[in-house]
This record gives sequence, C-alpha cells and structure tokens, in this order.
Amino acid sequence: MRLEGKKAIVTGGAGGIGRATSLAFAAEGASVAVVDLNADAAAAVAEEIRAAGGTAIAVAADVSSEPDIERVIAAVVSQFGGIDVVFNNAGIIRRTTAVETSVEEWDRVFGVNVRAIFLMCKHVVPIMAAAGGGSIVNTGSGWGLKGGGQAISYCASKGAVVNMTRALAIDHGPQGIRVNSVNPGDVDTGMLRDEARQLGQDQAGFLAEAADRPLQRMGQPSEIAAAVVWLASDDSSYVTGSALVVDGGGIA
Ligand code: NAI
Repeated sequence: MRLEGKKAIVTGGAGGIGRATSLAFAAEGASVAVVDLNADAAAAVAEEIRAAGGTAIAVAADVSSEPDIERVIAAVVSQFGGIDVVFNNAGIIRRTTAVETSVEEWDRVFGVNVRAIFLMCKHVVPIMAAAGGGSIVNTGSGWGLKGGGQAISYCASKGAVVNMTRALAIDHGPQGIRVNSVNPGDVDTGMLRDEARQLGQDQAGFLAEAADRPLQRMGQPSEIAAAVVWLASDDSSYVTGSALVVDGGGIA
C-alpha cells in the first residue's frame, strides 16, 4: 500500500492509461478523483474502484478550462480533505503536419495537453505547499523527447510538457513538491487506434508497426500505471524534474 492515505487526482482518468492508473492508485490505498471530459466513463471507473473496496469520486470536466479546474480542485478538497498526488494525463492527438493543421486544432491540442497542466499546477501547488508537499506526474510522450511524423501540434505540446515539468520541479522543489513526467511509447489504448483512423491506415498494420521495438510489443496501460505509482509514491522521494521513459526500448 504505497499510497495509503494519499488523496489523488487523475485527469483523463476514463481513458486507457488514466483508468489503469486510477485503479492502481486505489489498489495502493489512495482515494482517487477520476477526472474526465467523458462523464459516464469517469463515473464507471470510480464505480469500479468502489466495487473493489476503494475510495473514488468522478468529476466531469474539461481540463483546459480554468473554471473547470477550480471546480475539480474544490470538489476534491471538500470530499477528500486535501490533495497529495496529481496525475496530469488527459491528452489528445492530431495526426497532421504543420501545413495540414488549422490554428483551431493547434490551440485545442495545446489547451488540453499543455495549458491544462499549467492550470492544474497554478491552483494545486498552493494547496500542496500549505500541506508540506506532494507529487505531480505529467504525461509526456516519447514524441515529446524525440519528435515524430505527422503530429506537429502533439510533438510540440509534449515537448512543452517535458520542459514545463522541469521548470515546475525547479520552482516548487523547495516547497516539498516533486514534479516528474512519464513518457510512454506506443500503448494499447483508444488513442492509438484513433491514430490509425486519422491517418487512414489499416488498424492491424498500424498496431504491428507500434510493436516494432526491442521488446517487440506495444505497452499495456498497466505498465505505464506502474511507473506512475512509483513516481507518485515516496519510493521516488529523491526524484524530481525527471523524464521517465516507459517505451519498451523505442527511443534507444
Ligand atoms: P485515451 O484517449 O484512452 O485517454 C485520454 C482521456 O483523456 C480520455 O478519457 C478523454 O476523454 C480524456 N480527455 C480528452 N480531452 C480532455 C479534456 N479536455 N478534459 C478532460 N479529459 C479529457 O488515451 P491514452 O492513450 O490513455 O492517453 C493518455 C495520455 O497518454 C495522453 O496524454 C497521451 O498523449 C499520452 N500518451 C499516449 C500514448 C499511447 O500510445 N497511447 C503514447 C504516449 C503518450
């Protein structure tokens, strides 16, 4: 029970990696707020946790909206009495080059992938600092470190996540707040399947390509969740500002 008594927020908590991490946090003893744009799916994950004997609430929110972030934080503080852990994980991808990307799409990707993390930290850091510290984990991507094709807004946004994480770690380390990014390679979730659709590619072929790496398979959401549990817990007490890569060797 590495997160016994901790109060945690997971954004994008209804999706592949977010759901797996919400379940893993709860299994380690945390109370979990499952935050997602998809209200029904978030409620289902919270119910799954409660059915297994854990503590969870669902909060429907658009994390790119400041009023929504403030509402999420108020709900979690009022229900759980504080916030020790935040997993900023909600994200979207558009598989387009610069030429193909509209300004609106660019802004939406940055709104969900980057501004949301800024907004969450802006409002949660004072709460964590007043309580003596906390752990924030942000979902970057292998493509935030090395780039990738036909995903200009996504690659730029995830690069911003990695470096914003370092900046947050520098600013708030003295307050006892650790901030790290987890950077997955291809993980078997709805997002990966949607990428095949956006690119007009055959799904089976696309997923086979995703397995082309030293460990010869895609990652499973639970394997990202395991890394996030470690970063969230006191087991990683001297780790901050790091970009942890969990990708089956795709970057090597
Ligand atoms: P997913 O599509 O299964 O889950 C994303 C979740 O975020 C969904 O439940 C969606 O409803 C939610 N969401 C989207 N916009 C939102 C908003 N404005 N406010 C609140 N919630 C919102 O995708 P997956 O794969 O679980 O992605 C999670 C994170 O992992 C994302 O940040 C993604 O960029 C990142 N990632 C995923 C990889 C993969 O191969 N699946 C690889 C590298 C990074």
